[in-house]
Order: sequence, then structure tokens, then C-alpha cells
Amino acid sequence: MTDAHSLLVERITLGYGDRTVIDDLDLAVPPGRITAIVGANACGKSTLLRAMSRLLAPKGGQVLLDGKALHKLPTKEVARTLGLLPQTPVAPEGIVVGDLVSRGRNPHQRVMSRWTAEDTAAVTEALTMTDTLSLTDRSVDELSGGQRQRVWIAMALAQQTDVLLLDEPTTFLDVSHQVDVLDLLTDLNRSRGTTIVMVLHDLNLAARYADHLVAVRSGRLYAAGDPTEVLTAQTVQDVFGMTSRVVPDPVSGKPLVLPIGRHHAVEGVEV
Ligand SMILES: Nc1ncnc2c1ncn2[C@@H]1O[C@H](COP(=O)(O)OP(=O)(O)OP(=O)(O)O)[C@@H](O)[C@H]1O
Ligand SMILES: [Mg+2]
Repeated sequence: MTDAHSLLVERITLGYGDRTVIDDLDLAVPPGRITAIVGANACGKSTLLRAMSRLLAPKGGQVLLDGKALHKLPTKEVARTLGLLPQTPVAPEGIVVGDLVSRGRNPHQRVMSRWTAEDTAAVTEALTMTDTLSLTDRSVDELSGGQRQRVWIAMALAQQTDVLLLDEPTTFLDVSHQVDVLDLLTDLNRSRGTTIVMVLHDLNLAARYADHLVAVRSGRLYAAGDPTEVLTAQTVQDVFGMTSRVVPDPVSGKPLVLPIGRHHAVEGVEV
């Protein structure tokens, strides 16, 4: 089992240049649980995740990892605890899958240390879990969008961190691979206690897989809590400006959002 780490975002303000993107936002990540962040395009989700993984320094407030300011912790210590899958990762040109995923082991390597059997096992396991073992010798540039996405997930898994931050891990994936990846993250969470924080655009998958749902609107926290309480038609209206009907998902009992759109009308719902 992994160690449960506390990851706390305290009154954080983030931005680029003079522009504020995230404004005075608080977020307590439940240790050992799955958190999903949802919100409209450009509301600041990736910016928030970048700050939570130390890639972006806050303009105000702070991120605390186990009670310590994240931005003051040594890089390697952070990298051994927090793994990040960015929204649009860039692979070194010409790199093959096996080498890329092996780079996920960098935080575990000490100066002058050798590659160990443990590293090989971690890489093989990550490739196997993401169904990418057969791609090991292929160049990353030549893969399909979905294959590439699974390779990046493998790289994040190979880090074997106690906390995983994933920015839209299901983009480019067909419906079956989306469910596979979310099942896999749930397996990691259940078997190892890995704390997962992910940005998802599919509200129904977010509600189904997350223990804790965070809705962000224009750089501010709109609501956070149990998906059943957070994901209501009112939330969808306020956060996405979209009229919808929310019904219990017949498979999981979690909220299922049915968008209405301009060409459909539902009795009792104003469009
Ligand atoms: N490196 C950057 N420099 C300047 N502005 C940026 C940078 N990255 C993001 N922004 C701006 O910050 C705002 C929030 O961007 P961010 O990527 O956090 O949104 P998001 O919620 O992840 O959106 P999406 O759902 O489209 O991924 C946007 O207006 C974006 O243009
Ligand atoms: Mg984003």
C-alpha cells in the first residue's frame, strides 16, 4: 500500500503575466480517494493541476504536501510522491515507447545509480496495465492518438507515485479504452491506495468514477463533494451554461447528465 499524503490547496491565485486565471481557490484532496475536476474550457483546470504538481508557482496562497509548502520541497522528493500526466505532453523526437516509459523511473534513480530489476519490473507492469507492451519498440511519433495517450499513462504509472495527477487521461481514447483507463486507475486506487486527481470532460464518467467531484467555474471553486450532490442540472447550467436533465445512471446509480440542446425539448424543462 502507498502512504496517504495530504494535498491541500489553500487560497491559491494563479495566472500568467498580469492575468489571473485561478482566483482564491481552496481544495482539499481526500487522501486515498479519486477526485475528478470538471469545468468549462479555459476555466483554469490545467492551470490548477500544474500548480498542484509544482510546475507553476502560485501568485498567492499555497499548495501544501503533507503540511509543507510544495514549492519549497526538493524536486526529486516531489517527483517521487506526485506523478503528473499533462494535457498535451511532448515526447522527445524519435523516442521509442519503452524508452519513454522508462523515463518515468527517473525520480527513483539516485546519482550514478544503475537501472535495477525493480525499475524493469515497474516499466513492464505499466506497459502491461495499459495494454502497450506490444508497442515497446515503436516510435512514439508513429502511434495513433489513442495508443500515444495510453503510452503516456504508462509513463505516469511507471513512476509508482502515491499521488497521480492526470489532465484529461481519456482524451483520444475510444469508449472502451476510456473505461479501461478509468477502471485501471480505480484498481490502482483500491489495491495500492493511490490518490488520484484527474481532470475529466465526460461528466458521466466523472460522476461514476470519482469519490469526490470538484466543479470549477471561471477560475473559482463552484462546488466540491459527493458527485450525487454536486452534479445537478443547476450545476450543469451554472458551470457549462447548458440545459440538461440529470437522472440516476441505471448502471451505477450516479448522476447521468442528458444534454437537451436546441433541437430537443423535454417536458417540464425550459430550453
Ligand atoms: N502558458 C500560458 N500562458 C498564458 N496563458 C495561458 C497559458 N496556459 C493557459 N493560459 C490561459 O489560462 C486560461 C486557463 O487555461 P487552462 O489551460 O488552465 O484551462 P482548462 O480549464 O484546462 O481548459 P481546457 O478544458 O480547454 O483544457 C485560458 O484562458 C488560457 O488561455
Ligand atoms: Mg486543460
